[in-house]
Amino acid sequence: MPGPGAFLVGEEERREVAEVMETGYLSRYGTADDPRFKQKVVTLEREFARKIGVHYAVAVNGGTGAIMAALVGLGVGPGTEVLVPGYTYVASISAILAVGGIPVLTEIDESLTMDVQDLTDKITERTRVVMPVHMLGNPSDMDAIMTVAKKHRILTLEDCCQSLGARYKGRYLGSIGHIGAFSLNINKTITSGDGGMVTTNDKHRYERAFGFHDQGHVPLRMGVEIGKRSLVGINLRMNELTGAFALGQLKKLDSIVTMLRNKKKRFKQAVEEARLPGLYFRKINDPEECATLLTVLFEDEKVCAAVARKLGVMRVSESGWHVYNNMENILAITDSQGLRRYNKHMLPKTDDILNRAINLSVGVVDPGLGAGFGINVLATDSEIDRKADTFIKTVRGSI
Ligand SMILES: Cc1ncc(COP(=O)(O)O)c(C=O)c1O
Repeated sequence: MPGPGAFLVGEEERREVAEVMETGYLSRYGTADDPRFKQKVVTLEREFARKIGVHYAVAVNGGTGAIMAALVGLGVGPGTEVLVPGYTYVASISAILAVGGIPVLTEIDESLTMDVQDLTDKITERTRVVMPVHMLGNPSDMDAIMTVAKKHRILTLEDCCQSLGARYKGRYLGSIGHIGAFSLNINKTITSGDGGMVTTNDKHRYERAFGFHDQGHVPLRMGVEIGKRSLVGINLRMNELTGAFALGQLKKLDSIVTMLRNKKKRFKQAVEEARLPGLYFRKINDPEECATLLTVLFEDEKVCAAVARKLGVMRVSESGWHVYNNMENILAITDSQGLRRYNKHMLPKTDDILNRAINLSVGVVDPGLGAGFGINVLATDSEIDRKADTFIKTVRGSI
């Protein structure tokens, strides 16, 4: 079930990909004087960095790889604690484990992003990084998070996989923390099927992230540069076809986000005007969010469950991929004494909020997120009004 970019694939992507197909040169590396080399990945990196407002970007094969490279960029390794919210896609947590770090789960607040008080309470002498996840396109409370991070001398990795195009206080997400990670998978604001990006202003962290994504090499190598590899990396490279497709999509980012904001505004207004008792909206930390989803919260979890059942969707708490309670592979992890690190219901505030929440789709139509009901980026005004009406009637019939 795709995100907005996937609904809008067309001529721009076809043109970019056709250029690569003409010569069949598929590697991201090449020399500028070689006419076969179309420089799509390196151009994407440059354009992406310019859009987000950072000095450096590294294109990778997915959001999970972007988080791993970003963690390595920040120096995370075995035994380092990384704070991450218990409501996130499982990849935010598994990427930490994959580079040897220890995820420490924090609560969320009613913005469905990291709870700053709980983050503060969970900092220890082993904490090196905090990873706010801008869930469902909503910026985390970045001012407060950056203040806490600075006070405790920890670094910030923004997981922007669900929030490309959103801004916080005028700055694009992914340019506020020490490093950012994006996904271009099929559910995201723009897509190249799979793909990802790391963003940062720091040259050293860029070089580390780049090296990790390509066997330890320095950026933009020419061949195998023996003697220059300062760290051990793996292969997370993006190829030219993917880069070309993503370039076509990137050109549409502004118009996609504008469409999403307009459609969400109409959908939300219709629900708001119905003045449904016991229903309110999640907190949005900046109006320049992505607007990919409209999340409603109910005061009574039983009403929420009844509404979800009638709409044929899950409450957010029932999402198998986004809620720590439902990640059996993460819950199975033990420490050196064989004790479980993570337990069901260890985050009571998160559980309470998500038991009372339903995600209505605006641009991301994803039953896995609980967003199986709502509109998509191409919805007409009358479709939006009809969906809002169905939702309102369903709630009225459940109170
Ligand atoms: C918050 C978050 N982090 C990380 C990822 C991982 O991205 P990818 O699927 O591109 O590896 C996703 C993707 O769904 C995500 O939503």
